[in-house]
Amino acid sequence: GRPAGTCPIHQQAAQFDPFQDAYMENPSEFVRWAREQKPVFYSPKLDYWVVTRYQAIKDIFRDPITFSPSNVLEPVGEPSPEAAAILKEYGYAMNRTLVNEDEPAHMARRRALMEPFTPEHLRKHEPTVRRLVTTAIDGFIDDGRVDLMQKLLWDVPFSVALEFLGIEDDSDRETMHRFSIAHTINAFGRPTPEERANVAHTVGQFWQFSGEVLEKMKRTPDGPGWMRYSIRQQKDFPEVVTDSYLHSMMMAIIVAAHESTSFASANAIKLLLEHPESWADICKNPLLISPAVEECLRHNGSIGSWRRRATRDVEIEGVAIPSGARLLLVVSSANHDPRQFGDPDFFDIRRDNTVEHLTFGFGAHQCLGKNIGRMEMQIIIGELSRRLPHMRLADQTYQYVHNLAFRGPRGLVVEWDPAQNPERHDA
Ligand code: HEM
Repeated sequence: GRPAGTCPIHQQAAQFDPFQDAYMENPSEFVRWAREQKPVFYSPKLDYWVVTRYQAIKDIFRDPITFSPSNVLEPVGEPSPEAAAILKEYGYAMNRTLVNEDEPAHMARRRALMEPFTPEHLRKHEPTVRRLVTTAIDGFIDDGRVDLMQKLLWDVPFSVALEFLGIEDDSDRETMHRFSIAHTINAFGRPTPEERANVAHTVGQFWQFSGEVLEKMKRTPDGPGWMRYSIRQQKDFPEVVTDSYLHSMMMAIIVAAHESTSFASANAIKLLLEHPESWADICKNPLLISPAVEECLRHNGSIGSWRRRATRDVEIEGVAIPSGARLLLVVSSANHDPRQFGDPDFFDIRRDNTVEHLTFGFGAHQCLGKNIGRMEMQIIIGELSRRLPHMRLADQTYQYVHNLAFRGPRGLVVEWDPAQNPERHDA
């Protein structure tokens, strides 16, 4: 055979670099070569082992003891002493939440805190979601053109997240938007040293802001929301619900509860408008909205990859992985694995096993907020398909915050002829 250095597959692995538009645009296509020919490979640039097939990724999610989630929020690349010094000035001490906590601490905590995520509790939020979506659409329905990200998809999930968490909505949206992006870049991106310093200042401010919100809540523990529920549970389970947890979670969840949903909604609307027949189908038949949302989450979800760390020497699909190795699980590639989903690149809102996608993870850490996210997406897409069935994507260049995990466009411009709005003719 050829020397390893000239083998095209070996070169693809050596050059693998997901911090670019092509990965953000279509991560499953970006790693197609690996999924087809080298499903587990080592990336020297990242110092991660990259896993691309469905069954392997699901098996890894199934075993949080062998595959620890401790690195889920860990900055990528060489640690930066300068950034660490800046963060220290702010007293930054982000540590374990739920998503990056090991067993058995994780399950004890998840159990103590999960009640507000049950369907009965979630139903209470539905009228708020509908009202927020309706009001936002009222604001632009006569304009004929709008950036949906700016006027609907960022704000609504953000407001829902604040209500769910119990944070009084007196937030400065610009600042919060800046906080969220900085957190994403810090935890999942690969900024230049200069960017890393700027990001560290913003993340430090976000940490202090989260601490202040938490202190305020502790003075009114009987008020609404999941974070106050957690504060009350701390009284009964002080070892399980620690102060470090509460502060770290406050910061992480403000982002996790809305960015994932904003991007998932944007990716879904883009995908639907790129498939006019499917869009026409759901405009005609609202019963198709729920399965269509699920297929959008599979085909074009808001999570590119997720991470784990091997706690012992282990084999994945015949590849020896050393203890301590970092793993990049390309869940969007798993969602396009033909071994699991027939004709996987075909967008099919009537696909029967679409719900098996891994966009919400799987197993012990599977997303607790998945039904809130789904409900928001269904209401957003339901209202848009009812009131703006004639909208279409405007010509535009999509922009992304390059990172491993959260994927979606920063803007999504759509256009329509307001004279054709159904509600002008229904009356
Ligand atoms: C965990 C995705 C919405 C709260 C996760 C994980 C993913 C994810 C991939 C890690 C799963 C794993 O390790 O197996 C998403 C997506 C969303 C979404 C794609 C929207 C479409 C939400 C919302 C909330 C939320 C709205 C809260 C209101 C959480 C929490 C965890 C989590 C608390 C940690 C669970 C644990 O480790 O026990 N999410 N999420 N998520 N998510 Fe979501």
